[in-house]
Amino acid sequence: MEPPEPPPLTLLVCVNRRFGRDRPSCAARGSEKLLKVLEPKLAALDPPLRVLPAPCQGRCSRGPVVRVMPTGSLFLDVHPSHSSVILNHFITGGRDDN
Ligand code: FES
Repeated sequence: MEPPEPPPLTLLVCVNRRFGRDRPSCAARGSEKLLKVLEPKLAALDPPLRVLPAPCQGRCSRGPVVRVMPTGSLFLDVHPSHSSVILNHFITGGRDDN
């Protein structure tokens, strides 16, 4: 019997919006645009990576926040212009030496 396949990598992009002054949130800091930029780029990878909108990840002042599942690691302060950094991270298998 072969071991089960590991779950596919999925990026969760927090799109939560908190209302009120002095209440930072990922949506207020551009996460909806980030999600739109990431979706086609990650879908074009082989194998494709899933990217999904997500609720608050508890790091609101460091948003936009992207959580990698199933590892749980976080990318913080991810501006939409950083999408190529995330893309390269997964193309290189998460190594920092490329
Ligand atoms: S609003 Fe995104 S982590 Fe809380």
